Amino acid sequence: MAYSAKVMEHFAHPRNVGEMTDYSGVGEVGNPKCGDIMRMYIKVENNIITDVSFMTFGCGAAIATSSMATELIKGKSIDDALKLTNKAVMEALDGLPAVKIHCSVLAEQAIKAAVSDYYRRQGIDPVPIVGELEDCEACELDLQ
Ligand code: FES
Repeated sequence: MAYSAKVMEHFAHPRNVGEMTDYSGVGEVGNPKCGDIMRMYIKVENNIITDVSFMTFGCGAAIATSSMATELIKGKSIDDALKLTNKAVMEALDGLPAVKIHCSVLAEQAIKAAVSDYYRRQGIDPVPIVGELEDCEACELDLQ
């Protein structure tokens, strides 16, 4: 299993790591099979994600995808952030080994969870906008 240079670089030097205290929304998602957990904080002003940070207790691919995902949504509108797919995150990292694809789903779901929390805090039902947070199929598989 080979990781791209970009994955290794984001794993070794992850961007936007850490806790945020003045966040507008926070979401936490986990993969029950591997036990990895990802927490994403967003700060929103005028519908723009002005700041984002994450804490990931997980594998290298989960850390690299969280790092890249935060880079891709920082400064973007909420709508654009919700359009970010795990595939786009993987492409930005020059790919992931097939067995690690489920790790990138965690990043996509963490963004959705943080945006859902942001809407809830505004008194807005997030489900019609963000949708239900789905379990990824790959995460349902037995991961060894
Ligand atoms: Fe659990 Fe990568 S997210 S192995």
